[in-house]
This record gives sequence, structure tokens and C-alpha cells, in this order.
Amino acid sequence: MDVQQPLALLGGLSPAQFMRRHWHKKPLLVRQAIPGFKPTVGRAALFELAGREEVESRFIQHKEGQWLLRHGPLARRSLPSLTTPEWTVLVQGVDLHDDATHALMQQFRFVPEARLDDLMISFASDGGGVGPHFDSYDVFLLQAHGKRRWRIGRQKNLALREGLPLKILASFEPEEEYVLEPGDMLYLPPRWAHDGIAEGACMTYSIGFRSPNRAGLAHEVLLRLADAAVDEEASPIYRDPGQQAVAGPGAIPAELQDFARQAVQHALQQPLALECALGEALTEPKPNVWFEPAEAAGMLESVVLDRRTCMMYDDQHVFINGESYLASGPDAALMRRLADERRLMPGDLAKASDDALELLSSWCESGWAHAGLSG
Ligand code: SIN
Ligand code: CO
Repeated sequence: MDVQQPLALLGGLSPAQFMRRHWHKKPLLVRQAIPGFKPTVGRAALFELAGREEVESRFIQHKEGQWLLRHGPLARRSLPSLTTPEWTVLVQGVDLHDDATHALMQQFRFVPEARLDDLMISFASDGGGVGPHFDSYDVFLLQAHGKRRWRIGRQKNLALREGLPLKILASFEPEEEYVLEPGDMLYLPPRWAHDGIAEGACMTYSIGFRSPNRAGLAHEVLLRLADAAVDEEASPIYRDPGQQAVAGPGAIPAELQDFARQAVQHALQQPLALECALGEALTEPKPNVWFEPAEAAGMLESVVLDRRTCMMYDDQHVFINGESYLASGPDAALMRRLADERRLMPGDLAKASDDALELLSSWCESGWAHAGLSG
């Protein structure tokens, strides 16, 4: 993607300008970000997804002053009639289940893949919404069907109402108000308070971003570093020829503490260990994702990544679905291209080494990628 090219999606800003002026800084309202936009998933298909075990969904209803929350799977017959006001169904990760939705999300890949999370679709009956709240991540709210009134504000007081099943601001102070129609889009930075109320039945798409917190990321990376440490050959064994007899056997020897500290430092200091663990963690498929293995293919002509596949790279590695490969030279360039473009064309594959072709074939057999074949 040419990040200097102005985009209708960003109201005529280039991705570079958008990131400089708005990302994490201030909201952006774009009228007709996608002119003539038609939902990629209809209402019936969305409800069908909400009924599936492997799909994350929620039902929220505002009824007689109370907020109700139910987690999916949601059977269609358990939902109120379409004429009942003030309810909504939210389906997370629709990009994992639908190719057209996945393709729509690709328009937002001027933000690193490592930060993109998922595309959530909500259906709301008249007056429906999730109440005034704030999110800790950036979001693009794309109106897909019907109208929604958004009220937004910077909101200093982030106190929440107590005793509710959802996070609702105790005293929402909106500063701006917009009614979005199909194809309109609103970008909100993290922690901007917002409340979207459906005016008649409506559907809204939320393109959300991952914002790992430090402790969570440390947990994921350290788990992988721990696995790598266990695999180390000829790991030194603790020795204490100088240990003296102790009167207090419960006390942990200081030398053992030092040995443990050195062990952890050693694991962290392994060349590329942290980079490798981070790439593997970032590309690990979500727990509800699985791939359908395919028959071994013949000569590959072109390759396209499956919509569920997560592929990234750094200077030394290529990462795909939680696995890492050291890569350099022309093969690394080829794999980076696959990660960036999510496909390789015949011209790309003509230059691929036998090792690269073999790897690509194995990914096709795992269902991580799909092959176009020749012969
Ligand atoms: C919705 O689509 O109802 C909720 C989106 C949001 O407020 O983040
Ligand atoms: Co929100």
C-alpha cells in the first residue's frame, strides 16, 4: 500500500497523514468512507454466526432501566423480535469466518498487522446499543446498514456505574454528536467515551486493534522463553561445594537465588530469543481458530494465505501461526512479500528456492494457505 496516497476511506487523508494527525490523538469522522457500502454479512447470516459455538458473541438489552448481558452461542429463537426496541447482538472476529469481511479489514493494513485485532459486527434494534463507555484501544466504527447516532467526548471522569454486567460510564459528558449512515465511518482513539444508539434497526462494523498490556505481553513472551530454555542442551547443573551446614533448613540459599537469576538472564540474553518469542506469540491463532488440512498439491503456481492465517516477520525471522523460521536472502524477501500482500503470484514463485516451495506446500497442506496449481 502506498501510504502517501490520499484515501476516500480516510476522508482524503493519506494513511501517513492519518497516522500523524489522528492515530491515538483525535477522532476523525469520514462521510462516505466507503461510498455505496453494502454489508458483507446480512442480518440472517450474522445471527447464524452468533449461534455457533466457536464464534464469540454477546446479546445486550436495555429493558426497564436495567442492562442485561448474555454471552453466546445465541440461538435465533432466544433473541427478541426485530420490533422489540433496545437490544443488540455483537459478533466478534467476523473476519475469521467470512472472506468478504476479511477483505474489508485489509483496507486498514496501513497499521501494522501486529496491532490489528478483529472486525466485530453488531446488529441493533431501534434504540439499541451498549451504553456510554470507553475502550482501551483504537476503533474505526463503520456504519453498514441503517442509522446510528454517536455521541462522543474526551471524558475525564472514567468512573463506571456499579453493579452492572457491562462497563457503563457513571456520568457521560458528550461533546460531539453525529448520525452515521451506511458507508460513513468514525475513528476514535483509545479512551474516548462513546455511545452509539441505533435509529431504527442498524448494523455497525468495528475494526478493533490489539493493545497488549505490559504484564500480559510479558506473560506470553516469558512462557515461550521458558519453553525454549527447557530445550537447551547441556544446561549447567547447580553445584554448591561450599554449602555449609544450616540450622534453619527452610531458608533458601542466596547462591541458589543467584543461580536462578543467571538462568533467567541467560534465557533472555540468547540471541534473538525475545524477538522469536514475540513473533510467535503475535502470530498465534486465537483459541477458536482451526484450519482444514488439504491434500498435497502439485506444482504451485500461486499461493494465497487463508483468511485465518497470521503471518509477520522481523529482520531475521518469518512467523506464521505461532511458528518461527530463520530466513535470509531471496527466500526471506519472498516470505515477507507473502506476509505483506497475503499472496504470491506466478512471477514471485518462479524465483522461489526448492526449500521455500516445500515450505509453502506444507503450509497449503496444513490449510494455512491455498494453492493455485499448474499442470
Ligand atoms: C456497537 O457496535 O454497538 C458497539 C461498538 C462500540 O461502541 O465500540
Ligand atoms: Co466501544
